[in-house]
Amino acid sequence: MPYTLDQFCTEIRGLLKTEPLSNALGHIADGLGRLLSNPGFVAETFSDDMPPGRRILHHDPETDFYVLAHVQEGNKTGKPHSHGSSWAIYGNAREYTEMTEWRRTNPESEQHAVLQPVSKYRLGPGETKAYGPGVIHSTAHRKKAWVIRVTGTDLDVLPRYHFGKHDRLLAQA
Ligand SMILES: [Fe+2]
Repeated sequence: MPYTLDQFCTEIRGLLKTEPLSNALGHIADGLGRLLSNPGFVAETFSDDMPPGRRILHHDPETDFYVLAHVQEGNKTGKPHSHGSSWAIYGNAREYTEMTEWRRTNPESEQHAVLQPVSKYRLGPGETKAYGPGVIHSTAHRKKAWVIRVTGTDLDVLPRYHFGKHDRLLAQA
């Protein structure tokens, strides 16, 4: 039997209520991988003519997690950001996300941030990755990509890091 969005959401709710966050995130990332490998889920969630943007597939009022479907435009590079005190799990349904994780090299007390890349990798179809609280990362898409993101809360209203005009990026160490 294919693994469905409903099963995935039920599983996330159970994990968030019973497991320490770091365990739960690993299991949710595995579950997202199973969901993305169900062609029926991908077909009912995305279509070729869908414009870039995001849709909420599910919000759980009890634990506050969201499952979001993103159509990412090609030839676009996102700015470094964190998810503040919350978390997110990224997984691809079609094409690749180029991920970079960053480390801040200067003290938090300084107003601007200096960021150094610590790892770069690709998330391809069926691949997922969890980002815990405070992890700074950025995404880039060479081609139009279909992405599912699970977030711990509505990240848009959360205080969190966004790359600003006074911040600086260092070359790879
Ligand atoms: Fe993110």
